[in-house]
Amino acid sequence: MTVLQAKNIHKIFKKPDNLHILKGIDLELKHNESIAIMGASGVGKTTLLHILGTLESFNTGSLNILNNTTLKDEIRNKHIGFIFQSYNLLEDLTLLDNILMPARIARKKVTATSEAYKRANLLLEEVGLENRKNYLAKNLSGGERQRAAIARAFCNDPDIILADEPSGNLDFDNSNIIHNLLINSVKKFNKSLIVATHDKKLASLCDKIYYLENGKLTT
Ligand SMILES: Nc1ncnc2c1ncn2[C@@H]1O[C@H](COP(=O)(O)OP(=O)(O)OP(=O)(O)O)[C@@H](O)[C@H]1O
Ligand SMILES: [Mg+2]
Repeated sequence: MTVLQAKNIHKIFKKPDNLHILKGIDLELKHNESIAIMGASGVGKTTLLHILGTLESFNTGSLNILNNTTLKDEIRNKHIGFIFQSYNLLEDLTLLDNILMPARIARKKVTATSEAYKRANLLLEEVGLENRKNYLAKNLSGGERQRAAIARAFCNDPDIILADEPSGNLDFDNSNIIHNLLINSVKKFNKSLIVATHDKKLASLCDKIYYLENGKLTT
């Protein structure tokens, strides 16, 4: 089953100087599949992931996510978990509240007896942060933030995980921990994954690797 399909996506940043960054992207993601997107810095990986995650507009082409082509906020919130290159945690909220944020946005119940609350605690255990759940995000280490960002992406039980350089800021050992955590969580929870990365090791753990170059994807 196809969960996400992009056809002939073009993206031009009109300002400041008409940068035609994506020049006809075709991409199909199947259920339970993992795809790595590699490519040099500035080539458009983050832009592409943001477009696939409906966070950024595109100029021409089409995007189909779980048979939805008119992509509303609810669909994104329900079906897509995003791990941002720069974490995007809310610094003055606790770790637990950060993990619960997607559930709050989806207007789910988040009281101590709710499903969302139980799931958030389970996810915190999964990423080894149960003993940090009452810490403010700003008091977490880089590796802890990265793991928190992964847990948050799984909060609403989305079908698709989009991960942007999930180990970009980490040392070798912590990168390996994050890679295994991400790939194992995707398998364990039956998700589909697209991950943008410079890391060959992480890419090699995925089912497919594509290279983004001159605005196009190649194998
Ligand atoms: N809103 C914007 N307006 C204009 N140009 C932009 C905008 N966002 C990104 N760009 C440009 O588009 C190019 C691609 O950026 P993007 O962040 O997608 O690259 P990337 O492949 O993710 O790089 P990295 O590996 O360093 O994360 C860059 O040259 C960037 O300056
Ligand atoms: Mg990037």
